[in-house]
Amino acid sequence: MEKFDLTVLGGGPGGYVAAIRAAQLGKKVALVEKKLPLGGTCLNVGCIPSKVLLESSDLYHKAEKEFSKHGITVTGASMSIEQLMARKNKVVKELTDGIMILVKKGNIHLMNGFGRIKAKGLVEVTGDGGIETVESQNILIAVGSEPVELPFLPFDGEKIVNSTDALSFDKVPGSMIVIGAGAIGLELGSVWKRLGSKVTFVEILPRVAPFADSQASKMLERALIAQGLEFKLETKVVSGEKTDSGVVLTVQDKSAGESKLEAEKVLVAVGRRPATRKQGLEEVGIQLDEKGRIKVDENFETTVPSVYAIGDCVEGAMLAHKASEEGVACVEKMAGLSSHVNYNAIPNVVYTEPELAQVGITDEEAKAKGVAVKTGKSYFKGNGRAKSLMAEDGFVKVVADAETDKLLGLHIVGPRASEMIHEGALCIEFEGTAEDMGIMCHAHPTLSESLKEAALAVHKKAIHG
Ligand code: NAI
Repeated sequence: MEKFDLTVLGGGPGGYVAAIRAAQLGKKVALVEKKLPLGGTCLNVGCIPSKVLLESSDLYHKAEKEFSKHGITVTGASMSIEQLMARKNKVVKELTDGIMILVKKGNIHLMNGFGRIKAKGLVEVTGDGGIETVESQNILIAVGSEPVELPFLPFDGEKIVNSTDALSFDKVPGSMIVIGAGAIGLELGSVWKRLGSKVTFVEILPRVAPFADSQASKMLERALIAQGLEFKLETKVVSGEKTDSGVVLTVQDKSAGESKLEAEKVLVAVGRRPATRKQGLEEVGIQLDEKGRIKVDENFETTVPSVYAIGDCVEGAMLAHKASEEGVACVEKMAGLSSHVNYNAIPNVVYTEPELAQVGITDEEAKAKGVAVKTGKSYFKGNGRAKSLMAEDGFVKVVADAETDKLLGLHIVGPRASEMIHEGALCIEFEGTAEDMGIMCHAHPTLSESLKEAALAVHKKAIHG
């Protein structure tokens, strides 16, 4: 039986990153993945393919609706879904191929099959070629998450779909209902709306992207409504029925009562759950919490010694970069290094237009925790670069500790928020203050100047505010 220092279950951004880092630290590593290519949900059916569709659909939308304002005449613009999907598949293939090369370069033993922990230090891998068992000093579980299904609306891949299906439609649906206005719903709803579908959201809570700063969420909602997306907030789906042409949902609005909604397709985007079922984890003593997440301690060690877990299958935000950070910290700790994840400095982005990005806490969260804060805001309307980009919707909000001035949160709705948010992450990581952010010289003209202005506004020193 082959022996390893570490066997990683799951080749997503948590698992493959942990495997590579462990190999760099001189460990003999096995990486078990049931569905190649490597890259998991993020690369194959999540973050990356959705960004390709968002980019292409945004260009198409702009060609149709905005190019004329620049003086560009586009006649007869059309979108080939076949070409769109081919580009998406090419981008995914290039990236997943790259990971296969990195894993090979790291001398990581890749095992294609379903990995099951048989006992402490023993992993059984069932693949096409049969069953192989390996011995491992440490085991790291990085099996990720899967879409949540509504019990009365089981996925059929055609009319009632999940995020994976919605990345691969072969034609634009005439109409689509998206259940859940979280990150997945907003991104994929935007894609198909831009390509011509009539998209209606049904969201149980009173706002879109409920995790975000409430003003940011309101601003995003307004911008998306202006793009033609429809929102039915504080509305619950009670039941659903498939018809010849699509699906009819019975929904219950908090104020207006019960009504029917009909569409060609329904995308269920009500969250993801840890992929910990049918893994045989509890049989070997690995305890799960009430949400099915693997319980771990501060070293990511489960209730079974030498078995660790990270990423979507443990507590915390279900984000690829959070999983990667945990993977690195976990294997570095195993190797005796001091390593940690700063959960206050993990950015969260929704890639709509405008984008929504945040890091740290909101002022509402600070209030709930009893922390006194000061805030500063700056709108992109007054930013020269935003005007030249024709992307003036949105603002930057800085949340700082009222006593120490330390940056506690940065919230951006606006163009390229996904790139700018790291200034806030860096500031939080280095325990910087709003004053630090305001003092720093920002190039002119840039969108980032709005961050400086918002930071200065905390102390009522904004020049253009
Ligand atoms: P989510 O938790 O972000 O949003 C789900 C939404 O559905 C919430 O607004 C919730 O209130 C609503 N909801 C729940 N049950 C409902 C019901 N029965 N009827 C109507 N609305 C209902 O989950 P989502 O969007 O599915 O994403 C799953 C995970 O993947 C999240 O943790 C998200 O952060 C992550 N993700 C991150 C992305 C990014 O970073 N850009 C992109 C896609 C996903």
